[in-house]
Amino acid sequence: GKYRVVSTKSMPGTRWINLLVQQDCRVEICTEKKTILSVEDIIALIGNRCDGVIGQLTEDWGETLFSALSKAGGKAFSNMAVGYNNVDISAATKYGVAVGNTPGVLTETTAELAASLSLAASRRIVEADGFMRAGLYDGWLPHLFVGNLLKGQTVGVIGAGRIGSAYARMMVNSCTSGIYDYTFVTKLEKNCQIEGFKMNLIYYDLYQATRLEKFVTAYGQFLKASGEQPVTWKRASSMEEVLQEADVISLHPILDKTTYHLINKERLSKMKKEAILINCSRGPVVDEEALVEHLKQNPMFRVGLDVFEDEPYMKPGLADMKNAIVVPHIASASKWTREGMATLAALNVLGKIKGYPMWSNPNQVDPFLDENSPPPS
Ligand code: GLV
Ligand code: GLV
Repeated sequence: GKYRVVSTKSMPGTRWINLLVQQDCRVEICTEKKTILSVEDIIALIGNRCDGVIGQLTEDWGETLFSALSKAGGKAFSNMAVGYNNVDISAATKYGVAVGNTPGVLTETTAELAASLSLAASRRIVEADGFMRAGLYDGWLPHLFVGNLLKGQTVGVIGAGRIGSAYARMMVNSCTSGIYDYTFVTKLEKNCQIEGFKMNLIYYDLYQATRLEKFVTAYGQFLKASGEQPVTWKRASSMEEVLQEADVISLHPILDKTTYHLINKERLSKMKKEAILINCSRGPVVDEEALVEHLKQNPMFRVGLDVFEDEPYMKPGLADMKNAIVVPHIASASKWTREGMATLAALNVLGKIKGYPMWSNPNQVDPFLDENSPPPS
């Protein structure tokens, strides 16, 4: 191969490797056993000559690494992730390295995990599973693991981009056939079998989620026409409005300075005592210590967490809370999605090496939000 491309981790599938190899690249995959590579480990991988790197969200891509990559002749870096809070874009720009990410392919897989956690939390599935395995079940009881019915309750979405919108659609009408399926409205008219959780929606985003609004409106009209209680939706004018009104709240913003500890002690106190909070975005969006305290004070408040402030660690006390469900950052972990992420990361790096724009870069506008809409008043 004419070009040297390094992947800091082995990634699912072979398509991404074939793509690179067919286009004059020699692919080197790091075989280091430890999970999280240090900056020094990655500098060693980059070596004296490297055209592009595919990296992971656990790595700190800042000044040091972009300087090393640039010195080695590298022009391209792609995260194998949609999130890029681990990447210092201005440092990359300074050293002439283009940065890519992998949106789109993980939208619905991630939304499905957020939906799974919402259901698991509302029906106390993990707690009940532990109860069975501990041999504590000694017969059916009217009070045993009573949870909440989602139907008719309100789902609150904070950050209604690709993932937030897909999640919202699932919770309103679980039979979404894909956010890329433009024919949904027609199907609604033709196919009376489509049913869902029928939650009402309230969302908060700086931008208007035009397509989400159209979708929920159409579903509401369909329900009304068939003589059922229609679902409703509302774009909140403040995040507080979502916190106060929603029964299940799911967080889908990007992590940056403006969303760090977006959910803090004060905002937790605004939520309903029996609310459910889901986080499949980034850990630091939630003040995890404040959350642990809130879980202790409010036994009926429940959370489903895929991400943590200080991964791979949890804040003290969290693991002991029965009203918390915790999973290890697996929201994008479906085979199809992970192979897709690897392929997109490879295409990003390959594109740049060959002199084309990256397939996706973090500055690209989310096509599911209307950037021309005014912020909420
Ligand atoms: C995973 O967390 C991602 O950002 O893709
Ligand atoms: C955010 O990361 C999104 O994909 O909307």
